[in-house]
Amino acid sequence: AQTIRLAVVPGDGIGGEVVAEGLKVLSAVSGPHGLAVETTEYDLGAKRWHATGETLPDSALEELAGHDAILLGAIGDPSVPSGVLERGLLLRLRFSFEHYVNLRPVRLYPGVSTPLAGVGTDDVDILVVREGTEGPYAGAGGVMRKGTPNEIATQDSVNTAMGVERVVRYAFARAANRPRRKLTLVHKDNVLVYAGDLWQRTVRRVAEEYPQVTVDYCHVDAAAMFFVTQPQRFDVIVTDNLFGDIITDLGAAIAGGIGLAASGNLNPSGRFPSMFEPVHGSAPDIAGQGKADPTATILSVALLLDHLGHDKAAAQVERAVAADLAERSAPRTTAQTGEAIAERVAERA
Ligand code: IPM
Ligand code: MN
Repeated sequence: AQTIRLAVVPGDGIGGEVVAEGLKVLSAVSGPHGLAVETTEYDLGAKRWHATGETLPDSALEELAGHDAILLGAIGDPSVPSGVLERGLLLRLRFSFEHYVNLRPVRLYPGVSTPLAGVGTDDVDILVVREGTEGPYAGAGGVMRKGTPNEIATQDSVNTAMGVERVVRYAFARAANRPRRKLTLVHKDNVLVYAGDLWQRTVRRVAEEYPQVTVDYCHVDAAAMFFVTQPQRFDVIVTDNLFGDIITDLGAAIAGGIGLAASGNLNPSGRFPSMFEPVHGSAPDIAGQGKADPTATILSVALLLDHLGHDKAAAQVERAVAADLAERSAPRTTAQTGEAIAERVAERA
């Protein structure tokens, strides 16, 4: 059997609960596909920070780098000042491991209800390719005259030719392999003129290598509207880190809720491990109650398998999730949902 060396970071809040179910499904699918999974758990997050003041020690970063992939639950806790864990742990992982593709599929599965009227499963099938290492997330900033009426806070957005090109290339390659072969750049080039122009020029240049891909552009505010009024408009979207953050929460909302939204933080070169996590946060309000839906994490496990080249195993997990979603009725606990999906995976093995 081929061994997947998996680093597991449960993190905060519901992170541990959903990750446990993701691992259950991973273990159910691996055997039949000739895979073995070797997991190492890392206790990073709020507890660790309170105990030691550490967010992500260099030693942990080095150890994580030696794995094939990382499965992460959720990061963030109300007892820790905002930004400390997000920037010191989650973003540090994304930046250190050059996760320049933040892949976020938005798909409406049969049987799942959407708040959109008159929209069926075929109408919502979007692949958001969110840039993961630059933009306002990586920009310098500062504050002057803090606490006074004359306070000035600045927060830059970083956009490099190399950083934009690599994510745009990834998005074109994905678009070329989908039936509709359409790529939409989402930005705000009528206001953010310097960054917007770099994105536009990059898309136009790379487009010459992909004559089979239809290219479109949409301002981010209009994109938010079209997600709700005309989601069919989108196939693959490529966008800036912050715009991608915002529209993928909206995407989750139109496709059955944040409990179903999966993501992969990819380093396509394979130089560093890629990291898979649900789009949702740590949900401290429901932590420890067995209420969280682990589906987003389970679908993130499918992205993980796919990224490592185990596409058949990935498809099997997806089919099991789809079958489960089609028949869900009574409310279930986190573990019941994980078990139901793991059983379906085993049945089809
Ligand atoms: C996400 C989250 C993170 C982000 C936060 C927790 C830093 O919202 O993964 O979408 O903004 O990227
Ligand atoms: Mn987000």
